[in-house]
Amino acid sequence: MSTAQELWDDVDAYFTTLLAPPDEVLAATLRDSEAAGLPPINVAPNQGKLLQLLARIQGARRILEIGTLGGYSTIWLGRALPADGRLITLEYEATHAEVARRNLDRAGLSRITEVRVGPALESLPKLAEEQQEPFDLVFIDADKVNNPHYVEWAVKLTRPGGLIILDNVVRGGQVTDAGSEDPGVRGTRAALELMASHPRLSGTAVQTVGTKGYDGFALARVTD
Ligand code: SAH
Ligand code: DHB
Ligand code: MG
Repeated sequence: MSTAQELWDDVDAYFTTLLAPPDEVLAATLRDSEAAGLPPINVAPNQGKLLQLLARIQGARRILEIGTLGGYSTIWLGRALPADGRLITLEYEATHAEVARRNLDRAGLSRITEVRVGPALESLPKLAEEQQEPFDLVFIDADKVNNPHYVEWAVKLTRPGGLIILDNVVRGGQVTDAGSEDPGVRGTRAALELMASHPRLSGTAVQTVGTKGYDGFALARVTD
């Protein structure tokens, strides 16, 4: 008898080999991230491909990511952009940002991507002050405690019809624990409640299983 996790790993291996196989750049990105001591909490390959497809479907020209790590999800998203597109990714840890910049460089994406170092809650107001063009897609994948703030900022910085994606909304099922004292769980629940009540958001959430365990993501569209 195989465990549930073994079954999920087998199915992910099948899907990934068929539909999201690693190329040299993605493989090197994960190798160098691991060598630099970064935690293996990047999205799975088939999830990265989903992000890329969503960005393409969205016709995204401008993408904001909160939580870069080694730039693995950044590469999947960046590859969805046209040659004159722009991706800004926010990262707290200078060491993570350094690894990510090298990985993005190798991916040929350094011209259209920018890694900004610092707490995202400081970078986001600066972004707003710059009054750049609004984003078409925001991928939120950083410290879960701040998820409601990140959703608020994403709404402010996104065009009508923009797409907001929130990672790790299930965390093994912890999300249903209304009495949880885990700041991450509380942050994610508050973000989901905001998606439900915000007059400019229409959202949903789905559960996922796979190499990254039992988790899920939420999607919300900013209304016109
Ligand atoms: N999106 C990445 C994984 C991100 S992991 C991928 O799928 O490949 C979460 C990242 O968020 C970590 O690198 C962590 O350092 C960063 N982070 C944590 N708190 C943060 C904050 N306050 N502001 C910006 N980044 C933060
Ligand atoms: C963690 C963070 C993530 O963004 C993720 O996808 C998985 C795990 C974490 O902080 O443990
Ligand atoms: Mg994540």
